[in-house]
Amino acid sequence: MGFSENFLWGTATASYQIEGGAFEGGRGYTVWDDFCRTPGKVFSMHNGDVACDHYHRYKEDVKMMADMGIQAYRFSIAWSRILPEGKGEVSQSGIDFYNALIDELLKYNIKPCLTLFHWDLPFALHRLGGWQNPEIVDWFAEYAAVAAKAFGDRVKFFMTFNEPQCFVGLGHVTGEHAPGNLMSRRSVLEMAHHVMMAHGKAVQAIRSLVPDAQIGYAPTSNPVIPATDSPEDIEAARKAYFAVEDKPDYMWSVSWWSDPVMFGRYPEDGLKLFEKDLPDFKPEDLKLMHQPLDFYGQNIYNGYKVKSDHKGGWETVQRPVGYPRTGNGWPVVPESLYWGPRFLYERYQKPIVITENGCCCADVVSLDGKVHDPNRIDFYHRYLRELGRAIEDGVKVDAYFAWSVVDNFEWAKGYSDRFGMVYVDFETQERILKDSAYWYSEVIKNNGANLADIH
Ligand code: BGC
Repeated sequence: MGFSENFLWGTATASYQIEGGAFEGGRGYTVWDDFCRTPGKVFSMHNGDVACDHYHRYKEDVKMMADMGIQAYRFSIAWSRILPEGKGEVSQSGIDFYNALIDELLKYNIKPCLTLFHWDLPFALHRLGGWQNPEIVDWFAEYAAVAAKAFGDRVKFFMTFNEPQCFVGLGHVTGEHAPGNLMSRRSVLEMAHHVMMAHGKAVQAIRSLVPDAQIGYAPTSNPVIPATDSPEDIEAARKAYFAVEDKPDYMWSVSWWSDPVMFGRYPEDGLKLFEKDLPDFKPEDLKLMHQPLDFYGQNIYNGYKVKSDHKGGWETVQRPVGYPRTGNGWPVVPESLYWGPRFLYERYQKPIVITENGCCCADVVSLDGKVHDPNRIDFYHRYLRELGRAIEDGVKVDAYFAWSVVDNFEWAKGYSDRFGMVYVDFETQERILKDSAYWYSEVIKNNGANLADIH
């Protein structure tokens, strides 16, 4: 199926979603701790205080991954665990926790892949204006330097931001995520600008401290699939994928969030669209955002189809009646793992890393004590075949991280939505490998060759 010998098969998690130990080891309060305590925000007022108790069970979790044959583990570190106030004093016990986790991973030859920011902003920084305050560029670089110094002797794979569109857009445009305070378009564009500058400055900090690091960025997108293989439809899909459009949730653009980082410039259509609300962008800001990267990460869960409108534009193709959906209602669109990587590689010319892909299912423990999740297996099977096809067609893809290894705190959905290959009983913290975990082990063992088989 085209996967090279060096291809990395991994899984991904995020600190707030799995760690728990929210008030242990001197960890500082975060925007998510606070959001979960705000009535009406999170399903059943669930929170990440205990989550999967990974803070205490990381050894068991790493062993489980080793048993599954996982080669790389993408995890995020909690900024407020190592800098409780977000800047200034470093917490040694926070550093100790991640050191122990990293050492445990290395003991089993699992490559530690570190994301600096997966949404749990220290509350102390939020009080100072969070992403709105231009000083956050320096705060983030300071944090990156602390992490690089502490872990860079063993961690060589870094990602700056996970899905910046989400913590800026869902956090400040729709209010579904923390901190949930709605802001004007101008303020939101300013935040996005600060985020990308913070990315640039963090890359510089990591580079100077860990010269042999591989560094990337992990935004998200819903790839656009051409309705047919005609050159016209392919061009229509390409245009639709990279267009900046005026939508209520306008922060979901690929190019607005990646062109500055990858090219050092904002996309023209976006500059025109946001003209009236544009903050004061200085050319040196864009220079800072545009740092050399080793790979371009992308979280991909689904996509949609378009066809050419024969006037140089596109039309969205309606989904068929009864189209397949996951347990949380997201459309199942395996071709997004073909067209997404293909278009992104073509535009940005960097090796692609699929930093997340996976699906929610209504998992239950059956009478036989096992968790049978054929829909999740089918989902992964279909998506990974498409990724293999993209590689065969010349797209350079270095790694794939399944979301997620364990069921966890699914943000506004609390513990109601399960994405893991391992079932977690949140009352007892018992872990049960689902059928998909065994299936994924086989895929890894065969380096994807068995994806060609139907079963
Ligand atoms: C996020 C994860 C989340 C997953 C499923 C991604 O948007 O990065 O934190 O759990 O999707 O919703």
